[in-house]
Amino acid sequence: MHVAGTPYRTIWPSDTDQAVIKIIDQRHLPHRFVIEELRTVNEVCAAIREMHVRGAGLIGATAGFGMYLAARTAPDQDFAAFMQQAADDLVQTRPTAGNLAWAVKRQLTAIAQENTLEKKRARAFDVAREIADEDAEFCRRIGEHGKEIIAELSRKKNGAPVNILTHCNAGWLAFVDYGSATAPIYAAHAEGIKVHVWVDETRPWLQGAKLTAWELKEEGVDHTLIADNTGGHLMQHGLVDMVIVGTDRTTRCGDVANKIGTYLKALAAHDNQVPFYVALPSSTFDWTIRDGLTEIPIEQRSGEEITHIRGLSEAAEMATIGIAPPDTATANYGFDVTPARLITGLITERGVMAAHEEDILRLYPEHR
Ligand code: MRU
Repeated sequence: MHVAGTPYRTIWPSDTDQAVIKIIDQRHLPHRFVIEELRTVNEVCAAIREMHVRGAGLIGATAGFGMYLAARTAPDQDFAAFMQQAADDLVQTRPTAGNLAWAVKRQLTAIAQENTLEKKRARAFDVAREIADEDAEFCRRIGEHGKEIIAELSRKKNGAPVNILTHCNAGWLAFVDYGSATAPIYAAHAEGIKVHVWVDETRPWLQGAKLTAWELKEEGVDHTLIADNTGGHLMQHGLVDMVIVGTDRTTRCGDVANKIGTYLKALAAHDNQVPFYVALPSSTFDWTIRDGLTEIPIEQRSGEEITHIRGLSEAAEMATIGIAPPDTATANYGFDVTPARLITGLITERGVMAAHEEDILRLYPEHR
């Protein structure tokens, strides 16, 4: 997608130096556009853990490149043990995002198939690029499938803007390109269908205010930033035509873990008969689990993310300010689970399906 009119992905290998992977450091957005260079798997782990990069798809792609950097720097005499340690370290950085473990496993499997260290290193680079390219292509296809749903709503409204509510950032910044929840919005917008997006600010990290609002602005999509608790009110007054969110891990039965607060939006949508869609590439399915509530680990992060806020000061400098009494007890759950029964449909690269095991397997029969 675009930054000041220039096309970017969120992660890419340097053109001039194969030892360098470049990322957009998202901690500085929307105020500063900073590109960071990663050279070691430890730097990759820190970038994921400290949320220089975030979002399920991008975490997966970054882990893929992390495994490549590990392969580059692994000592010849201790290659296998080094790679296993790198895999373990990467998987532990963020526990909820399903794409992370998926990408690491894909790398380990591919590397194991090669019989020389030179080939293993070369394969790790190819697989990292494959994971990133596939993520971008799958999100593009999600856009094509999801666009049809928006087009149908637009027809029903005789071309009046379709109001879409989204939570957190499942935009291109959460993937390699296009995004999951935003892909149908961008595709509809590109086709001239009128859309307007209600952007939940998404406390405490403020992915909606900092990232979703920024990327929609860069793409020229009409949007309005709202405080997190506003969605239910808007739905009661007929101001939301559909909800589209992303997901960090989805069970084979269609339960969805997404940014904390998603469940409350799903409840409000259900109560107001507003269609509630979840968009995801298939790399976000965890085919080994059925029950999201008991089987998806929910990340808990530092309470400082709740007691403090980071942004641009009046002096136009990045600053952190406290907003709670010192030593206030905190609980900072990163995600919640929305049960399949509250979900109208899943939008994937293969099409739209009910959040139900049978219908999911209709499009993914290889996981029967
Ligand atoms: O904590 P984050 O920013 O990595 O959370 C991920 C998210 O952005 C959301 O949960 C998103 O809706 C799904 S990720 C595609």
